[in-house]
Amino acid sequence: MPKVIYLVAGARPNFMKIAPIVRALNAHPTLTYKIIHTGQHYDPEMNAVFFEELGIPQPDFFMGVGGGSHAQQTARIMVAFEEYCQKTIPDAVLVVGDVNSTLACSIVAKKLQIPVAHVEAGLRSGDMGMPEEINRLVTDSISDWFFVTEPSGMHHLQHEGKSDDAIFNVGHVMVDNLLYQADKLSRMDTRNLATTAYKKAQAAAGKRYGVVTLHRPSNVDDADTFTKISHALKTIAQELPLIFPVHPRTRQNLEKFAIDLGADITLTGPQSYMSFLHLWKDAAVVLTDSGGLQEETTALGVPCITIRENTERPITVDEGSNKLAGTDPATIIHETLDVLRSPQAVCRRPELWDGKAAERIVAILARVLENLSDHGEKTTPKRIQPAKS
Ligand code: UD1
Repeated sequence: MPKVIYLVAGARPNFMKIAPIVRALNAHPTLTYKIIHTGQHYDPEMNAVFFEELGIPQPDFFMGVGGGSHAQQTARIMVAFEEYCQKTIPDAVLVVGDVNSTLACSIVAKKLQIPVAHVEAGLRSGDMGMPEEINRLVTDSISDWFFVTEPSGMHHLQHEGKSDDAIFNVGHVMVDNLLYQADKLSRMDTRNLATTAYKKAQAAAGKRYGVVTLHRPSNVDDADTFTKISHALKTIAQELPLIFPVHPRTRQNLEKFAIDLGADITLTGPQSYMSFLHLWKDAAVVLTDSGGLQEETTALGVPCITIRENTERPITVDEGSNKLAGTDPATIIHETLDVLRSPQAVCRRPELWDGKAAERIVAILARVLENLSDHGEKTTPKRIQPAKS
């Protein structure tokens, strides 16, 4: 009987991470999978467009939990996932990244005694004000197998007492996806991509451009902080036109705080993966608070200014093209102008960020699941009855 792995995805950054795992599982003789979509992100441009473009099959189970507070969202996912797992028990649950869906499904699986594999394990910002840091810590505290993207992840997990046998340095599935899609992009007709018109207009005017993304609550939920960052962006835009695909959270706050970014910053809706890649791969600089984009820019050697005080992905600064600017406007402006005026610093793509992480993960999962069966350990968890009030 093939072993069944549930692949959990819920929010936009998860989709890029499961796409290569799906491809690797499709090619594997003894493992199979089901796609569990929590529905944490639900707007078509945050969700369906990625499934289509990245070639992810339709979910086997769609929870449709939608937005809400952290507790509401996490609780709704937990209830729905527990019911589903009790009906059809998998051999393992694989969670990626650090979103609320990652946290919720790993807790449910572990309580049902289903082994949990965490992809992108061990990253730590040390910033407990960041919801993702809490999600990372809790998920890693109960996971069985840790798939790690960079040496800092190995160190943190070892320091936290995880067994060396459970920690695997495999590279990065996000980079697998990037290299795969960049190759596709190089061969496709880009005329119909939404960002092509902007690129053409800049080229026609003989101008370079920069790309902005912002969505962290710490940057966009506070009027004072968001206003200060906006001033920095407006100053930079006097020198380098900026284009800013706006996340739904950020859009709500731009309106709420009545922030006007001016004519040199072009605002668009969220972009599809290809349309966005087409845009940022040729940017003079990317200004962002995203985790994934810090890594993707490093993988392609595009200069990146991170508008955060810390990063859980230090390899992007140590070896890659990333600079941590914090949220002080003067520093954001200084670091960005420095990138524009200086020759590009030497950077390199980190070891194992070679497009083969998903294959490594799947080969390891096949082995560890086989070992579990060989040693007579239960891969069929106990059914836990729902608590009665
Ligand atoms: C979530 C993740 C974050 C990740 C980000 C990527 C957590 C704690 N946070 O943050 O780690 O970097 O996704 O985007 O899991 N909304 C829509 N349409 C959608 C999705 C969201 O309108 O399709 C709205 C929500 O209703 C909410 C806001 O956007 O008002 C934020 O969405 P939410 O899922 O709460 O968190 P993100 O900020 O997207």
